[in-house]
Amino acid sequence: MTSAAAGPGATASTGRRPRRRRRPERPVNEPIVRLWPGPDPTPLGDEALIEAYAPHQPAELRVNFVTSLDGAVAIDGLSAGLSGPADKRVFGVLRMRCDALLVGAGTVRDEGYRAVRLDARRRAWRTAQGRAPFPVLVVVSRSLALDPTSAPFAEAPVRPVVLTCANAPADRRTALARVADVIAVGEQDVDLGAGVQQLRERGLAELLSEGGPQLFGALTGADLVDELCLTVAPLLAGPGAGRITAGEPVAPQTLALRQLLAAGDLLLTRYGRSAGAAGP
Ligand SMILES: NC(=O)c1ccc[n+]([C@@H]2O[C@H](COP(=O)([O-])OP(=O)(O)OC[C@H]3O[C@@H](n4cnc5c(N)ncnc54)[C@H](OP(=O)(O)O)[C@@H]3O)[C@@H](O)[C@H]2O)c1
Repeated sequence: MTSAAAGPGATASTGRRPRRRRRPERPVNEPIVRLWPGPDPTPLGDEALIEAYAPHQPAELRVNFVTSLDGAVAIDGLSAGLSGPADKRVFGVLRMRCDALLVGAGTVRDEGYRAVRLDARRRAWRTAQGRAPFPVLVVVSRSLALDPTSAPFAEAPVRPVVLTCANAPADRRTALARVADVIAVGEQDVDLGAGVQQLRERGLAELLSEGGPQLFGALTGADLVDELCLTVAPLLAGPGAGRITAGEPVAPQTLALRQLLAAGDLLLTRYGRSAGAAGP
């Protein structure tokens, strides 16, 4: 049978119609319980979950990702197919707890990032902690191929920061400077160590990175990752997608398990620098 005979949508190599990828659904109110340390079958309420993600040490940089069991970073190019209600709860808690949200330009573009807004309850929690009501969005980009009229910039409740390098196109830099503080660190590449230092000098101590893979790879290479909060979704995504990390090879680094939560078959892990392993 030729692919033409197989009908519209059939692949040339197999003659079979590609299977539509169904987004796996997870129960809406699936309780989150603690498996380690101190296993406890009592579902974690909102306050307990916030406490479960208290920083291990002040001024840490943590990274949050969701992956499939077979290591995929996305399904059909988006992380949404891997996520679910429990992962989103933790995602929200991590956002609420950070001073700045560090994200690569690729993720902003691919995931259609919106302005980082928090609901009134989360803003109240932050102000009660002496924090600003909203975290600052920090976008990392070499090319500055970012639309200043897009929601993450134009609708931002607080002025975002763009970390770039000296060789970034001057016209794009001028355009973005109308809606964001554009900071050049490094010549050809963004010097992430210097960028993080600049953020800390602005009083942004707790940093959360939501990826993506290239930024995570570069943060790992610069030895800037203090913690990885990794959600493991109970599914096999199959071949195709990349991993949660990308870029140039770097020296492997061992992390220690800090916490393991579960929502049904989905695992919510916290791994951090081993005791005594200080950052740069
Ligand atoms: N599963 C998850 O939890 C998760 C989380 C995030 C993203 N994702 C997925 O990851 C995919 C996007 O991957 P990606 O690798 O393109 O994401 P990314 O790391 O967010 O974006 C790469 C881009 O960000 C900028 N960038 C990152 N690191 C840089 C550095 N060290 N120096 C200078 N610029 C840097 C560059 O932007 P310019 O091109 O502007 O120079 C680079 O092209 C999407 O499919 C998304 O859905 C999944």
